[in-house]
Amino acid sequence: MRPLPGFRDFYPEDCARRGYLLDGWRAVACRHGFVEVDGPVLESMDLYAKKNESGAEILGQLYQFTDRGEREVALRPEMTPTLARMVIAKERDYRKPLKWFSIANFFRYERQQKGRLREFIQFNADLLGDASTAADAELISLAIGVLREFGFTRDDFVIRLSDRRAWMDFLAARGCDEGAARAVLAIIDKLDREPEASLDAKLAPHGLTVAELRAFIAAASPEHFAPLLDQFEARGLREFVEVDLSIVRGLAYYTGLVFEAFDRGQSMRALAGGGRYDNLLADLSDGSVNLPAIGFGLGDVVLGNLIEETPRAREKMERALGAAPAAEIYVVIAGEARRREALGLVQSLRDAGWRTDFPLDAAKVGRQFQTADQLGARFAVVVGNEWPAVKIKTLATRAEDSVAHGALAEWLKTAHV
Ligand code: HAM
Repeated sequence: MRPLPGFRDFYPEDCARRGYLLDGWRAVACRHGFVEVDGPVLESMDLYAKKNESGAEILGQLYQFTDRGEREVALRPEMTPTLARMVIAKERDYRKPLKWFSIANFFRYERQQKGRLREFIQFNADLLGDASTAADAELISLAIGVLREFGFTRDDFVIRLSDRRAWMDFLAARGCDEGAARAVLAIIDKLDREPEASLDAKLAPHGLTVAELRAFIAAASPEHFAPLLDQFEARGLREFVEVDLSIVRGLAYYTGLVFEAFDRGQSMRALAGGGRYDNLLADLSDGSVNLPAIGFGLGDVVLGNLIEETPRAREKMERALGAAPAAEIYVVIAGEARRREALGLVQSLRDAGWRTDFPLDAAKVGRQFQTADQLGARFAVVVGNEWPAVKIKTLATRAEDSVAHGALAEWLKTAHV
């Protein structure tokens, strides 16, 4: 039996890889002064449907149902509405700006394909209560930091910056009212993903063509972005960002600056995406909480694919996972008569912080060494006739030593450095 389409089982090696991503996200977020939050996996449908702030696309992908208490509910498809709800409820309790991150699983009823599943994990980071360019730079620098953490360089990824206000001005000048402009933004979001003829057909009612949109993108002047680009320059991160007005983002709540992270090979969907959503909190709270905000989400699926396909990043991951084997020490029981002593030794090693394993049942010594190798152990400690002395074998070199079992902890401490 397999999991449902678009859902994944996590076997030990999958969990190890997932742990590697999550540890990296958490470490970099903390280094940037962000603190972790979380919310529920199930939300009231109202959060998504009442004001439809996220837009039609994601609304159409919701896993929604009526619970046993007759409530209309949905599995969260993204963090931003939940985060906005949480901030609105307790905004006064926290010093501004809020620098919050979260790591959570999300559900979207999408067609399964490369980089697109129905359950995925996202790292989200959001900075609320500061509308400045400094805040924009701080948040995007975190996105860059997260990707660099996995061994990627400027040759591997780029952050594309854009601004919806530039589009809104252009579309207003072309006679689009706000509703029409939003509809056109949704079309621009598909510019590289749909055939030109079908896009032209969708643009026709708005009096626009793909060629005109492309001309506007090509004519973009980066001057508008100069103050922001200067902040990256100061941080030594300028080479990771470029201006590209073809980025508009699929979600409706963005109000200004938007950005996406792409692999340089352009072989994948966006690794991450985000932007300013300065009106979302005010809209969801009917004006009672008005906080500017910027944030992004970065998914585990596309990141995992890019790590696999980038030798430098893959080797870095393999090194990290190899450094955390299932067992560091395997206690070999060479004579069943010493099993009780071996159990005591296993316990003391575990209490001292060593990842330690041993055979639950009588087994040939050769077999036990095989298991030690398979688990990736560094040392085999053999408990047998020499008790109270034990033999220590360094598995990579097969070098052997012998110490009193009471002196083993000390021996390991020095061997480990
Ligand atoms: P999003 O662009 O929908 O933004 O998702 C961000 C990232 O999550 C994508 O670039 C992609 O890597 C990953 N992702 C999205 N959907 C899937 C899927 N079906 N399967 C695998 N990965 C996926 C948001 O979700 C915004 N809420 C981000 C944000 C936070 N904006 C402000 N704060």
